[in-house]
Amino acid sequence: MGTAWYPEQWPKDRWEKDLALMDAAHIDVVRMAEFAWSTLEPREGQFDFEWLDRAIAQAARHHIRVVLGTPSAAPPAWLTSKYPDVLRVDEDGHTDEHGNRQQFSFSSPRYRTLAREIAEKLATHYGHNPNVLGWQIDNEVGPPSFDAETKTQFHRWLQQKYHTVAELNHHWATAYWSQTYDDFAQVPMHSKNENPGLLLDWKLFVSDTWASYVENQVKVIRGHAEPRQFITTNTMHWNGGLDHYVMHRSLDLAAWDEYVANGHYEWLDYAVQHDLVRGYKQRNFWLMETQPAFVNWWPVNRSLDPGQVREVAWQAVGHGADAVLYWQWRSPLNGQEQYHGSLLGADGTPVPVYAEVQKIGAEFARAGDALSGTTPHSRVALLQSYESRWAIDFQRHNKDFDPVEEFDAFYRPLELGAQSVDVIATDAPLENYALVVAPALNVLSSAQAEHLADYVRRGGHLVLGPRSGMKDPYNALWPQRQPGPLVQLLGGRVEQFYALDQPVAVTGETGAGQATTWAEALEPLAPDTHVGMTYGASASWLDSKPALLTRQIGKGTITYLGAWLEPALMSKFAAKLLTDAGIQPIVAGLPTDVEICERSGSGKRILMIINHGRSAQTVHLPMQTKAVLVGSDNGANIQLAAHDVAVVVVGAAESAIP
Ligand code: GLA
Ligand code: GLA
Repeated sequence: MGTAWYPEQWPKDRWEKDLALMDAAHIDVVRMAEFAWSTLEPREGQFDFEWLDRAIAQAARHHIRVVLGTPSAAPPAWLTSKYPDVLRVDEDGHTDEHGNRQQFSFSSPRYRTLAREIAEKLATHYGHNPNVLGWQIDNEVGPPSFDAETKTQFHRWLQQKYHTVAELNHHWATAYWSQTYDDFAQVPMHSKNENPGLLLDWKLFVSDTWASYVENQVKVIRGHAEPRQFITTNTMHWNGGLDHYVMHRSLDLAAWDEYVANGHYEWLDYAVQHDLVRGYKQRNFWLMETQPAFVNWWPVNRSLDPGQVREVAWQAVGHGADAVLYWQWRSPLNGQEQYHGSLLGADGTPVPVYAEVQKIGAEFARAGDALSGTTPHSRVALLQSYESRWAIDFQRHNKDFDPVEEFDAFYRPLELGAQSVDVIATDAPLENYALVVAPALNVLSSAQAEHLADYVRRGGHLVLGPRSGMKDPYNALWPQRQPGPLVQLLGGRVEQFYALDQPVAVTGETGAGQATTWAEALEPLAPDTHVGMTYGASASWLDSKPALLTRQIGKGTITYLGAWLEPALMSKFAAKLLTDAGIQPIVAGLPTDVEICERSGSGKRILMIINHGRSAQTVHLPMQTKAVLVGSDNGANIQLAAHDVAVVVVGAAESAIP
């Protein structure tokens, strides 16, 4: 349990009071210094770490340990005035100024040197400090720069990828509109309104550039810090600015910042993001920031209701968070975030949500030992591909085809049915999954197709959603129809795709309903390819055409769904997928809006039961449970008030952990 603490903003004689109040809330980790560059290095080459030494030592006396942020998200004014070439340039050509944050260019060699130097100073100083748990690189990296240096590097990146400009012309099919290039230096730098091949390469370049920006600091910290100190960075809500699988290669731990910006907590929308972040490293993660009730950057910054901060915290733990940190500790007297939720007011005393955080802290302290060494396990994987997401976003064809929403449309019923879903990269190992679903795998390389085909041949159940297998890794159309390199295995293909502005009827083995937004007419090509759904009559071009194809391959199956199904029909379809793959829920028949999460490992099984609803519920657990870590013990019947949480250990009385 932790918080973001900014001691540099307050007099030193106040710190003891802060730490005592944290201690009283069971806070045992603070993140510090990620915006403190101007305090750490007030003038170029003049460092002042005395205040940070003191803050870390003082925190340790309260058993509070520290995550140190490298301060590169907010360079000091002396730096940007002396070296204006490091400033970020936006796509319209405007150069950023001091006074906000993230005003640097991610590709600037000079900025990287300066950021590495301050990171090295910190790592040399704190790399062996027993009270420093780990490091956060920068803060929420994301906005690219469109300066001249970046353009030069983009050209170099293209040259490394294609070797010859002829190869680039070939993959981007540049005979189109006389786009043919004679030299890499002629290639423009745009993030929209361009050749899809260029747009995808720009995104991949941005990803690689952010990954190397982060790695630049990771490397220097590793050179000085003890290996027990982890290195992470904090990521954002479904951020598509870069490929997070690529950036996490150099990091030890994934972390994200969860904000329920409008204060309306749609729990499945956050479940999926926890699962997404858990998939970056395929292990437990940290919630590096979350809101104490409300934020300050949404049109209406509604507060979460009483009990919901606790509901949010336990859901994160249920999905694999090993730490939850509140942003931020105390309202700053000035600066852009005066209105943001905090645990202490500007007067330095607790605001109402402090008591709720204190309760969560006490619960974490009680449950921590039991939870240690446990993680969620799932037999269902959803494949998430940044390339596919970007490719669809460049050319949605139907404005309503938001690839994240479409992903959620598959996730929700699978999560409700299986009560545990992994979200992983397309090339991740698949052998532990009974069911693998790719909601819209638009960009599909031959190697990825082979990886998926191999999974099916070994007995796996693979499901491809609409728009899958349309593009090659250069964002060019495959010269065969969808699903491109998987047409042979499926024994079928997409005859034509259609953007819908009116729903279309669909009927099949799992009932009748409607498709919205997108529908593809499918065509079986092999005699053993089975049609599982068809569009209704009077559906224009789709009239009575197949909407779902499945083919059995040994013990495995490959399925292609060509339509975005409305939620009711999608639920029935997902239920059949789970049944066919032999996947059971942890506890069947839960009341609506009650979530159950399981973490297991080290011989333990812990269940977290969360009432996301606004009315009281009773949950009957069919298995023996013993120790109640959170909530009251009512035998097998768990009573949950609105937004309430119970945490229990599975097992007979003697075997359960205390
Ligand atoms: C215009 C242009 C064509 C093509 C079509 C597409 O008519 O002249 O080159 O772009 O639009 O609808
Ligand atoms: C982000 C940033 C924090 C803070 C919060 C406010 O998560 O990382 O520094 O600005 O938003 O919600």
